[in-house]
Amino acid sequence: MGVKKHAGAAAQEMPVPSETEVAKRVEALLGRMSLEEKVGQLTQVGAAAFAHGPLPEDVIRKGGAGSILWLNDTKQFNALQKIAVEESPSKIPLLFALDVIHGYHTIFPVPLAMASSWDPSVAERSQAVAAKEARAAGLHWTFGPMLDIARDARWGRIVEGAGEDPCLGAAMAAAQVRGFQGPYLGAPDHVVACAKHFAGYGAADGGRDYDPVYLPEGQLRNVYFPPFEAAVRAGVGTFMSAYMDLNDVPASGNRFLLREVLRGEWGFKGFVVSDAFAIGNLVIQGFARDGREAAFRALSAGLNMDMASSTYLQHLVGLVKDGTLQVADIEAMVRPILAIKVQMGLFEHPYIDESKLAQVIALPEHKKEARLAAQRSMVLLRNEGKLLPLSKSLKNVAVIGPLADSKEATEGSWMVFGHNPAAVTVLEGIRAKLPGAKVTYAPGPEIRRDLASWFEADTISGGKNAPQTPEQAETAFKTAVATARKAEVVVMVLGENADMSGEAASRASLDLPGRQEELLEAVAALGKPVVLVLLNGRPLSITWATENVPAILEAWEPGSEGGHAVADILFGEVNPGGKLPVSFPRKGSHAPLYYARNLTHSPEGSITYNPRYWDGLPTPLYPFGFGLSYTTFSITNLKVASPQVKVGSSVEVTADVTNTGSVLGDEVVQLYIHQKAGSDSRPKRELKGFERLTLKPGETKTVTFHLGPAELGYWSTSAGKRVQDAEAFDIWVGADSLATLHADLTVVR
Ligand code: BGC
Repeated sequence: MGVKKHAGAAAQEMPVPSETEVAKRVEALLGRMSLEEKVGQLTQVGAAAFAHGPLPEDVIRKGGAGSILWLNDTKQFNALQKIAVEESPSKIPLLFALDVIHGYHTIFPVPLAMASSWDPSVAERSQAVAAKEARAAGLHWTFGPMLDIARDARWGRIVEGAGEDPCLGAAMAAAQVRGFQGPYLGAPDHVVACAKHFAGYGAADGGRDYDPVYLPEGQLRNVYFPPFEAAVRAGVGTFMSAYMDLNDVPASGNRFLLREVLRGEWGFKGFVVSDAFAIGNLVIQGFARDGREAAFRALSAGLNMDMASSTYLQHLVGLVKDGTLQVADIEAMVRPILAIKVQMGLFEHPYIDESKLAQVIALPEHKKEARLAAQRSMVLLRNEGKLLPLSKSLKNVAVIGPLADSKEATEGSWMVFGHNPAAVTVLEGIRAKLPGAKVTYAPGPEIRRDLASWFEADTISGGKNAPQTPEQAETAFKTAVATARKAEVVVMVLGENADMSGEAASRASLDLPGRQEELLEAVAALGKPVVLVLLNGRPLSITWATENVPAILEAWEPGSEGGHAVADILFGEVNPGGKLPVSFPRKGSHAPLYYARNLTHSPEGSITYNPRYWDGLPTPLYPFGFGLSYTTFSITNLKVASPQVKVGSSVEVTADVTNTGSVLGDEVVQLYIHQKAGSDSRPKRELKGFERLTLKPGETKTVTFHLGPAELGYWSTSAGKRVQDAEAFDIWVGADSLATLHADLTVVR
């Protein structure tokens, strides 16, 4: 017996059972459950509004559901739980699950933004607040974090992850798992996390959501797996399988992923849920002949729980009865689900106190955390002539753009089911910061998706209002320019609506949608100082703005307190210190674009001799790891403790960072390596360490990194296994992926 407290036991001290005790209780439960109930535990049912079959109440009463999703109603949770624990045959409590991706009531920056903080503690604290609110609402389990590496900015779901890099991605993965789950599974005020979507989903052909993925094993293991493995190491309770085909085998029927790697190699002991309807979809995908075969193949591949398709419920009992599967096969899948229910304390505390949520969401520290997270996530891309920070004694500021007063765009993609956006917008944040000034506002023409998505009814650009006519858009355009003309300074808030990134929200172009760039050009032509604030869920190709607008702040989708955080930065109360977790391509057609690509036969720098494209530079507009500050830094004195290190040993790398400017600021010091030759060709640069530091003017700090087999080794295609080659390495330490401060290191046997 441990001394920890159970999640449900806010009022009482209640010891958490040991592993052996959990196992004993699970076996006792299995011993009294019918086969039908066991299959029920493998079934997650969509709540009434989404159910494609019988009412959840009836399924639960028969013991046909282990978990419920797409419900966000505390009273209903208790009502359904009552049926499960009082009326179902074995009285096993339900797990209530929902997508709590970047906040429940208090909304945090979208995950791509949180990764821009390069501060895992931001992600950890944000997800801890999200967990506390969600748990108080009666939820037990969130479908997050999303850990898909994304190197193609056209892919809409890039917004849900940590960007293009496995090292940053792994750090953010572990931090989010710790934030959601707390120190142990079942900790009070926390929920079970779910590492999704296993695996490779971010590499969809052409960036088109759900399209097949072809990734050689080396890429999978070196680039796409590390965040997932980090989540396992951090103790994540559950995994979600991805939708798409991975190398011609759907991820939800993929034994290599779910059995060999996840359980076999990484020792994962939790359970795997399919993505929504994914088991049923194996038929549509042309993998299984019918539902029966889909159920058989998914279960055999190692998928424990069927999200929403009812395929397990319909077919598993029959598959056991006709001898295709054994009861033991089913029980093996049920065990980790029951174990998590025991660990969460649901048998002792199945219900939620219905008054708790109101108290929890009123906690002032939640807003404070959200504002801090937003401040730390923003990236200053450009600041010519030190236009920023703006003076607080400005008297007449125009705030222009379709997103300037949009609560939806400020909170961003993936709202919790049923949540009403209530963010402080950029307009509101600026007005609050300048109480004595005239702050005018004009949205300009609206922006909309060309093709609607099935989420669209819930979002700003669809469903609610009829589209603007071209005449209305023209009037809005003219009003916006006229409003800007009267101001001392113009803040343009442009980018993408919340429904323009996320699931089923891929784009072929990365341009500012609608007439936004035209509006930006017209306003810039007025000759006033213009600051561009971007609200968006993916890199955008902002080449014109980069050449013509003096100040650009990438604010992403910054959450509930986003408008305040933008104003804090614009008016210099906070010095921006975020860095890009993704490369910004010059054009959408350059995607996928990422810094860690391999060298080619054509020497680097020979762009004119052998251009990658003849119609423009293929280099990023803003490189991975880039971000400015209101102060300046110098990074010097790079030292590798020893010029040689033995295979299997570690070496220390240090560098000094100095704040050479006149205000307090943050620098993210980054270490990159390149292996010069070896079993395989290796990327020209790979991030292997980073640290975000705060420095006073004139202050110097030393940053220490460790390079050992974990950083210097890799999975080799030639060798068919993980290797650490005895070879020469370049080391760079600096402020972005173009760092020039260099040292040599040789790995020897
Ligand atoms: C998404 C998942 C999500 C699930 C449940 C699916 O469409 O791909 O990320 O967790 O729905 O809402």
